[in-house]
Amino acid sequence: MSRLPDDFLWGGAVAANQIEGGWNRGGKGISVSDVLTAGSHGVERQITDGIIEGLYYPNHEASGFHSRYKEDIALLHEMGFKCFRTSIAWTRIFPNGDEEEPNEEGLLFYDSMFDTCLQYGIQPIVTISHFEMPYHLVKEYGGWRNRKLIDFYMNYCKTLFIRYKDKVKYWLTFNEINMIIRKPWKPGGIKFLEGENKLQTEYQAAHYMLVASAKAVKLGKEINPDFMIGGMFLHPTSYAATCDPADVMAHVKKLQQAYMFLDVHVRGVYPRSHYKFLENNQLVIETLPEDAVTLKEGVVDYIGFSYYSSSVVMADPSNQNKSEGNEISGYKNPLLKGSEWGWQIDPVGLRITLNWLYDKYQIPLFIVENGLGAVDTLEEDGGIHDSYRIDYLRRHVEEIKKAVFEDGVEVMGYTPWGCIDLISAGTGEMKKRYGFIYVDKDDKGNGTLNRYKKDSFYWYRECIRSNGEII
Ligand code: BG6
Repeated sequence: MSRLPDDFLWGGAVAANQIEGGWNRGGKGISVSDVLTAGSHGVERQITDGIIEGLYYPNHEASGFHSRYKEDIALLHEMGFKCFRTSIAWTRIFPNGDEEEPNEEGLLFYDSMFDTCLQYGIQPIVTISHFEMPYHLVKEYGGWRNRKLIDFYMNYCKTLFIRYKDKVKYWLTFNEINMIIRKPWKPGGIKFLEGENKLQTEYQAAHYMLVASAKAVKLGKEINPDFMIGGMFLHPTSYAATCDPADVMAHVKKLQQAYMFLDVHVRGVYPRSHYKFLENNQLVIETLPEDAVTLKEGVVDYIGFSYYSSSVVMADPSNQNKSEGNEISGYKNPLLKGSEWGWQIDPVGLRITLNWLYDKYQIPLFIVENGLGAVDTLEEDGGIHDSYRIDYLRRHVEEIKKAVFEDGVEVMGYTPWGCIDLISAGTGEMKKRYGFIYVDKDDKGNGTLNRYKKDSFYWYRECIRSNGEII
């Protein structure tokens, strides 16, 4: 094959908490992202105890998509989008998370948003939980530490699946599920208690989330057998720093630990190496006898993953030359250049990733996040000349094509991250922009929220129009 399939899903991705704003509109409750302050490169965002007056919470207004979605989706259509990946804010549907009945106003918002997409022939790709679980579930139940979360999540899923069964075909159960290890606040609502065994808590939460994901897949298929339900994984692409076997072994271990999530998603069983890992770290995970069956019954249809950069792995723990990346980073690769935020740019790493994943799992792959966070300048004439972003994306699309044409990898689609500028999850900044569409707003929240087309807008439109031929 020397053309991408005609039904290749070109599009872009966002998440409700980072783009919608309207944080307390229409009966919406507080989410875990609503209590995150603004940080910056190298300065962590703080998790506050509830909303504290006088503090700036960038996700509260975000990019104002909640009121501008019609205008925004029209712009996506102008670029030729075939799909649009977004998430549903759990707290618009269940403000506290433990209610039995959903909030109709929240459901209506997504009805209208999906209808707008469908009018333009844009398929919604919906992440059920993307860093926006109800804060109440944290305060009352301890977040995903607690097995009860499975039931709350399932009630939420059931509501979505029934309501949107004729509007949404593609689902993702949890955004970057493996981020629960090491960065558990956003995916799991977990802030460690004094003296808590962190690893124990993280792996316990991971188990509950994996069970919840499997149950969701099973239920979704019962409600609509045509649903395509995927897992979503932050791919920690990395290389052994040297050919010293100790470095290579450290790299094997790193991937093994991460792939555990995909082994469960795709095959429905934990790998043996995971049991050894638990044993070696004296971790005891509480499970129910029926969990094993649940995991087997709820395997995913495809793997969605995020890929931005790569790093290297070395056995020597004293090395301080850490690289940066989306929450899970290794060490710097001297052969690669970094972005302004230190994320190392590695287009070939995407081809490698596609090959690794396809060799191992042989189910369709969907690149649901990729892109360059960069500072853009809005010129006097309203133009934004982001040739650096075009260069990044072009090089990555080239590698996707090689993976498909030369390596035979099955790729369903490509949705670069933050297609409309939004709040950075890691830093809370606005100036770390990924979009084809510029949003007039700064890091303090000033700006008109007006939209402007960047040069990359026109480039991507051409890329999609030619099905990736002209890049
Ligand atoms: C991924 C997340 O980890 O990376 C997104 O799924 C996030 O929510 C994206 O925004 C980019 O990271 P950042 O920190 O630049 O926003």
